[in-house]
Amino acid sequence: MTAAGRVLVTGATGRVGREVVAELLRAGARVRALTRSPGTAGLPAAAEVVRGDLEDPASLAPALAGVERMYLFPVPETAREVVAMAEQAGVRRIVVLSGALAGQEEGDEAGYRPVEIAVEESALDWTFVRPGEFAANWLDHAPGVRDRREVRRPFTGAVGRPTHEADIAEVAAAALLGNGHTGRIYTFGGPQELTFAEQARIVGDAIGAEIRLLELTPEQTHEEWYAPEHGVDHAVIDWLLDLYGSTVGARGILPDAADVERVLGRPARTFARWASDHAEDFR
Ligand SMILES: NC(=O)c1ccc[n+]([C@@H]2O[C@H](COP(=O)([O-])OP(=O)(O)OC[C@H]3O[C@@H](n4cnc5c(N)ncnc54)[C@H](OP(=O)(O)O)[C@@H]3O)[C@@H](O)[C@H]2O)c1
Repeated sequence: MTAAGRVLVTGATGRVGREVVAELLRAGARVRALTRSPGTAGLPAAAEVVRGDLEDPASLAPALAGVERMYLFPVPETAREVVAMAEQAGVRRIVVLSGALAGQEEGDEAGYRPVEIAVEESALDWTFVRPGEFAANWLDHAPGVRDRREVRRPFTGAVGRPTHEADIAEVAAAALLGNGHTGRIYTFGGPQELTFAEQARIVGDAIGAEIRLLELTPEQTHEEWYAPEHGVDHAVIDWLLDLYGSTVGARGILPDAADVERVLGRPARTFARWASDHAEDFR
């Protein structure tokens, strides 16, 4: 890795963002971490923590001053403005947290592609990191596992390739600090195809307990997951149901971990490793 100027990490309190901060610090980079709530962010003392909100680009001016490289958490509504401000502030390299569904006709509900386009149309050197499903989505089931040793979800036969957030972050950090990543798109999942039922067994093994898996019907899923305060409205639930339904028994269609292995020069972390790293969350 080369010596870099200051690196701004947006989304720094996120599941991936925190790991990006940690990885950059481990590599000896000067890190500035963006959050809307510095008081409660719990970021490492070695990072310079600054307040700012990606939904309010004007608030980002202090965070961008003196920054050379930037990790961008995707917020499509303001991406164009944020990227223009970054360019003006002197940022030269940007690594975008995108998603494997970027640009797919049906599926890019999160709006990854508009963020990528805003970056492509800038003069910045860019790399897009497009992970598939995060292993960390399992943390949504942690309360049920802790309290009742139970997981309730639809399509338990859906096949996934859960990806460890630390691998996503290490790929992003490599692209931020290393050479040869400009104009590259890294699309990847975890190293193994696993049904949700198989994943449940692996989490159970990590905590030494059996996890009961209850398959919800689509109607029950809407009843249990609808929560407007968390943005899980019925349209999002329908989208997830389509996504999970389309991968029941479907092997060989999700991106594998080859890009992680190419960039990091080692195998991707397994889901068993993720479950062991997070065992305390489920005990
Ligand atoms: N879950 C998956 O399977 C999956 C797969 C592929 C891609 N993705 C994408 O990955 C991203 C999530 O990454 P992550 O897990 O690292 O992050 P995260 O845990 O969702 O949180 C990122 C942080 O960014 C800040 N933030 C979030 N929304 C913001 C907004 N609209 N404006 C300003 N700041 C905002 C928040 O920090 P503060 O409150 O501290 O400001 C938050 O803690 C999402 O874009 C998601 O679509 C997810």
